[in-house]
Amino acid sequence: METVDILIKNANEIITLKGPNKPRTKKEMSDIGIINKGSIAIKDGIIVDIGKNLNYKPKTTIDAKGKTVMPGFVDPHTHLVFAGSREFELDWKLKGLSYMDILKKGGGIVYTVNETRNATNNDLLKQSRARLDNMLSYGTTTCEGKSGYGLNTETELRILKTQKKLNETHPVDIVSTFLGAHAIPKEYKTEEYVKIVINEMLPKVKGIAQYCDVFCEKGVFTPSQSKKILEAGKSHGLIPKLHADEIVDTGGAALAAEVGAISADHLLMSNNKGLNEMAKKATIGVMLPGTPFSLMMKEYADARKMIDLGIPIALATDLNPNCWIENMQFIIQLACLNMKMTPADAVTAATFNAACAIGLNDTIGSLEKGKQADIIILDCPNHMFLPYHYGINLVETIIKKGIII
Ligand code: NIG
Ligand code: FE
Repeated sequence: METVDILIKNANEIITLKGPNKPRTKKEMSDIGIINKGSIAIKDGIIVDIGKNLNYKPKTTIDAKGKTVMPGFVDPHTHLVFAGSREFELDWKLKGLSYMDILKKGGGIVYTVNETRNATNNDLLKQSRARLDNMLSYGTTTCEGKSGYGLNTETELRILKTQKKLNETHPVDIVSTFLGAHAIPKEYKTEEYVKIVINEMLPKVKGIAQYCDVFCEKGVFTPSQSKKILEAGKSHGLIPKLHADEIVDTGGAALAAEVGAISADHLLMSNNKGLNEMAKKATIGVMLPGTPFSLMMKEYADARKMIDLGIPIALATDLNPNCWIENMQFIIQLACLNMKMTPADAVTAATFNAACAIGLNDTIGSLEKGKQADIIILDCPNHMFLPYHYGINLVETIIKKGIII
């Protein structure tokens, strides 16, 4: 496949997301820069013009009459590389077992760690590539991927190298996060394992991962252990991220703001003080509504409140064996129907703010002159169809770096 110069014309709606090049907050989130009956000119994989009635005549023209054109989805929180599956846990969940009960019973993260340690490199690559293919077919053109199902130096590195290989060979771009502190492997006590993460793993992931994440949660890593790991990560050039306040409020939101994390993710249980700290520091709140959905929880994160507090909000799938979802359209549906985000808020959260959450907003996340041509065409007249017409794939055409996939 090669880059061709393209004119997309006649779109019923082009969602440009044009605006200041920083995470969007409050009312900015619903200002998505719509152009009606618009066109986009693409040359050498870059957007060279956008507006109405463009005078551009390349060989390839796409008539987007009646359709919606928008930036490809950016999924800023996934656990892409793992082996095996955990469909049997659903029966346990239906019997009322909680996420932590399942972990104690030998399911959960530790189960997937065993499967991942025992998988060959080739299997790991093949299984993860299939998920990446699904993501792309539902319109995700860039994602983040975390390690975290190795919990030993060798396997954590194998996961990050698998991800690097996928990034080099698959159209979807992947940003890598080291999540060695995802759970405590049964071989160690927590404090011993924290030392291994800091002294043995972190020096080796430098250069392969750009971000460092920790599962800060009651019964997993405490805020003080999380802080130690994130600070050590910073000394190796890794930018902090945090799984914060997913099940219990441990003060994760405040910790994320304090260490200068680019994002704090989950935030179901966060207290107001912590959320206000995040707003002050412009720490991005990554909402993962697929997780409470998979866990059949009644509560979702209070995205509406966070937007009103001035936290820039992004959306992600959290793709993992507990919450196996590659489809950002479904995440937008959950965000609107269960978290009271408006369709426009959700579009910003799934594109521009998501790009900010992985540091890629200079090149992707909006459709503006000079930006990379990562574009999707939806077979619907406007963006409000995204949360409205659910259960099907609305994405009709995917363009990645100017290549029609
Ligand atoms: O973000 N909470 C920690 N990690 C994942 C779940 C991982 C798993 O259950 O395998 C999450 O929800
Ligand atoms: Fe996660």
